[in-house]
Amino acid sequence: NTPSAAERVHDLIELIPDFPSPGILFRDLTPVFADGPALMALAEALVAPFEGRFDYIGGLEARGFLLAGAASAVCGKGVLTVRKAGKLPRNTIGESYALEYGEARLEVHAGQLPAGSRVLIVDDLLATGGTAGAAARLVERAGWHVTGMAFALELNDLPGRQVLSDYEVFSLLNA
Ligand code: PRP
Ligand code: ADE
Repeated sequence: NTPSAAERVHDLIELIPDFPSPGILFRDLTPVFADGPALMALAEALVAPFEGRFDYIGGLEARGFLLAGAASAVCGKGVLTVRKAGKLPRNTIGESYALEYGEARLEVHAGQLPAGSRVLIVDDLLATGGTAGAAARLVERAGWHVTGMAFALELNDLPGRQVLSDYEVFSLLNA
């Protein structure tokens, strides 16, 4: 009996209490990234619901980059690098947002993609939705379209899905 992508990924995720701050149960996906077949199965599962409906994969630094790269290898689409502030060398558009454990800012290069490009946002985990929401606002302000968002894992006791209710959200796993 071959395990499904969801079963494989679920079994590899490690739970770390009180990281990076007290009260946070950290979901560590590095064992998924280290397992070639699991990473490929995850990448396939993330793009499948959106097949034929996106032109680029929006990868969110840092963990989302890994999944976006793997998804790119699976479907042949290029990656829009959505980076943390101060990393991109050319003219950028930025959005600040709150995290489950802090604050951050994301940027893209203005004019990176053709106008109207359809972008599938990919990340490892959906918690408050702050990160993905900021990425979606960036994509729209840049003149592109958000096809949807795909996550390996969604935390159900945080309001991510409600925050992102304007978007089609897929998650392989819920916790
Ligand atoms: C984590 C995770 C998501 C985000 C989810 O990234 O990879 O991007 O938090 O949280 P949210 O839904 O509350 O926004 P983090 O900012 O820790 O950065 P990293 O990928 O560089 O580790
Ligand atoms: N990003 C935001 N919340 C997280 C959590 N609980 N585990 C791993 N990454 C996260």
